[in-house]
Amino acid sequence: MYMNVDEAVAALSSNDKRILKCLSDNSKYAGDIALEIQLDKASVLSSSRKLLEFGLVTINNEVSMVYTLTDIGRGYLSTGLPELIITRKLVEKGNVSLSDASKLGLEKEELNASIGLLRKQGIVELKAGTLIYAGKGAENIESKSRLLLEINHGEVPADTESINEFLRRKLIVANENIKESLKITSLGTSVLRSKEFDKEVVDKLTSDIIKNWKGIAFRRYSLNARIPTPVYGKKHITKQFIKMLRENLTAMGFEEMQSNYAEASFWNFDVMLFKQDHPDRDIQDTVYLDGRVNNLPPELLSKVKNVYENGFKRNSKDFSVGYRMPFDEKKSRVLIMRAHTTATTFRYFYDKISKNKDKPARYFSISKVFRNETLDPTHLPEFYQIEGIVYDDGLTVSDLKSYITEFYKRMGIDKIRIKPTYNPYTEPSLEIQAFSPKLNRWLEVGNSGMFRPETLEPFGIKKNIIAWGFALERPLSLLLATNDLRLIYGAFSDLDLLREIEYARLSRKL
Ligand code: PHE
Repeated sequence: MYMNVDEAVAALSSNDKRILKCLSDNSKYAGDIALEIQLDKASVLSSSRKLLEFGLVTINNEVSMVYTLTDIGRGYLSTGLPELIITRKLVEKGNVSLSDASKLGLEKEELNASIGLLRKQGIVELKAGTLIYAGKGAENIESKSRLLLEINHGEVPADTESINEFLRRKLIVANENIKESLKITSLGTSVLRSKEFDKEVVDKLTSDIIKNWKGIAFRRYSLNARIPTPVYGKKHITKQFIKMLRENLTAMGFEEMQSNYAEASFWNFDVMLFKQDHPDRDIQDTVYLDGRVNNLPPELLSKVKNVYENGFKRNSKDFSVGYRMPFDEKKSRVLIMRAHTTATTFRYFYDKISKNKDKPARYFSISKVFRNETLDPTHLPEFYQIEGIVYDDGLTVSDLKSYITEFYKRMGIDKIRIKPTYNPYTEPSLEIQAFSPKLNRWLEVGNSGMFRPETLEPFGIKKNIIAWGFALERPLSLLLATNDLRLIYGAFSDLDLLREIEYARLSRKL
């Protein structure tokens, strides 16, 4: 990048300047600079990128190997290598019977391997069950054994043959060590000698400085600096994926539901007859908000309360005897971040299906849900669910299975299977697993079932309703061949990956 001396001086931070000064006319390792000017190595490295970009230094990477002992290697530190134990005995006795050798405290395999090695090197002969010392070669084994100690002290021995042998025997592992050395350029030297170099400039803004900025010299921003900027914006991979799913579900005759992220506990839990002290309602699992909801439909609330407490009968058959415990309306009004999109499904029972009971209906939603979880590679505190419901005459579990199969087939997933599970609001409840050829195993990808008649009773719905809730990020991360959801979202996301990937170009195999 083109920079003149004045521009460069004005754009340097105080750390950049300290590094340049410390280089004066030598070349130095980044690690040594860090020690010398008492700055952490990461800051030295990030400054050095900038100095390089400005043309003030050149950077040379020296790659070397470092070796570290494995657990096996470390185990030999106090005893010496197994072949050393045998050799020492041989030097002491001249010869050792195999049965005596087996009492030296070595594992059988270690013993055999060591004898093999010593024979191959001509240090030992095996005759009629006795090991005979050849009279020379013990010193080689002694020095090889010492190498292990040296490696343990961080030295890199010159004896590559032994190093290779240790690597083969898995006594050590090798890692690359990259040492960056910085050298000042002639432009760098001019910058260092310029009049302005030692002038104090402020390079970190504080609220006090912003209040009182007059007369302060600030570090200049270089508007010429070349930074890699993507030349276009694009849809995030999740959005691309959702678009495809939405098209598929629409083609399957489903209509999208509209919904809110914040919901009354009533819609998220009570209508589904979650017990009011159910562990899912715990603060550990659910995100609570401060608000209270006062506009719950009073008639529905009292019907849900009645089924919750007393169960219900239809045609004099007991479907449920209820929890036989008081239902607390106060708990229904507590505002939370929706923990599953089934909350929206129940709103649609109320707003749509119960008002038009003769009309078959198919709805879906692809929307976010929230759980009070710590972020890790496989858990997100907010994630998408793909919910679907079908309302019609005489629906059965086999209908549910064919919808699910069709949905996944359109996503490119051919092998699915179902397994019984439990939800308070569906019976039967079915877990859905998809087979991943990439991982060569079955993965849980969703949950589904047929709503219990007692959950539909307060809505006056008598026909069967089948439904599912599928995971979205999980199959997506598999399609992307990553096991870490954090690469897709948020502060840890891999921007290069996100810029690169196009849903349409992904192989459609989990
Ligand atoms: N709500 C369930 C979940 O969050 C999914 C589901 C939806 C199960 C509809 C059955 C019926 O896992």
